[in-house]
Amino acid sequence: MRRVHAELGSRPTGRGRSATLPPDPVATTVVLPPARPLPPVTVEQALLRRRSAYTWGPGQMALPDLADLLRWSLGVQREVLLPDGRRHRAGVAPSAGGLPSLEPWLVVRGPGALSPGVHRADVRHTDGGGGGTLTRTRAGDPTDALTAVLDQPPFATRATVVVVLVARLDLTLPTYGPRHYRTLHLDAGIALQNLQLVATALDLPGCPVSGFSDEGLAALLALPGTAFPAALFVSGSRVQTSR
Ligand SMILES: Cc1cc2nc3c(=O)[nH]c(=O)nc-3n(C[C@H](O)[C@H](O)[C@H](O)COP(=O)(O)O)c2cc1C
Repeated sequence: MRRVHAELGSRPTGRGRSATLPPDPVATTVVLPPARPLPPVTVEQALLRRRSAYTWGPGQMALPDLADLLRWSLGVQREVLLPDGRRHRAGVAPSAGGLPSLEPWLVVRGPGALSPGVHRADVRHTDGGGGGTLTRTRAGDPTDALTAVLDQPPFATRATVVVVLVARLDLTLPTYGPRHYRTLHLDAGIALQNLQLVATALDLPGCPVSGFSDEGLAALLALPGTAFPAALFVSGSRVQTSR
C-alpha cells in the first residue's frame, strides 16, 4: 500500500519545493462557538447553487461561520450505544465502518480571528455543548509554504482558510487492511461534498482541490507517517459585491 501511495505521488506536483513553519510553542487553542442552525436551504437548492469558487473576500470567514462549516460538514450527528456498552459518535459525514478516518486540519492566513499557521481541528467532541476546538500546531504566515505545495499557486494568495482532510491509516487499516486505502478516499469525497453543500448553504465560497504535493503538505502539517492529506477544501470569506 505504501508503494502504491508513493507511486501515485511520484509525478511532481506543487511547485516542486516544500516549506515548513516553526511549531507553535504554546499550542494555542481556540474554542469554536456552538454551531447554529443552518439557513433554510433545501437539498435541491444547495445542489443547484453549489459551485467551485475561485475568488474570496480579503480576510478569513467569521469564526461562527467557520464553526458552522466544520460542525455541519464533519461534526457529530448522533451517539450510538454499542453492544459492548461503549458510546460511539457517528459523524454527519458517514465513513466506512463509522471509523474516525479523517481529521480536519486548517492552514490559515490573512486577517481574521485565527492566528496564521496550521491548526488541528477537533469537531467530534461535543462535551460542554461547544463547537469544537482548533489547536495551532505551527505558527506563521503559510502563504509561501502553500504556494510551494499547491499545483495552482493563486489559491495560496487568494484563499485564507484551507481545510485539509487528513486520512488516518493507523485508525483504519488495522480494522480493514490495505484495501481500506481506497475507502479512505471515498470517505474524503463524502466529507468534501458535505463541505461544499454546507458552504453553499452558508453562502461561503469554496473549492475542492486535489492538486497538491502529498509530501510537501504532509511536511507543512508535520504529519506522522501514518497519516496523509487526502483532499483540500479551499475557502475563506464571502466576496462582497457592491450593489
Ligand atoms: C475531488 C475533486 C478535486 C478537485 N480538484 C481541483 C483542483 O485541484 N483544482 C481546481 O481548480 N479545481 C478542482 N476541483 C473542482 C472541479 O474542477 C470542479 O468541481 C468542476 O470543474 C465542476 O465545476 P463546479 O464545481 O463549479 O460545478 C476538484 C473537484 C473535485 C470534486
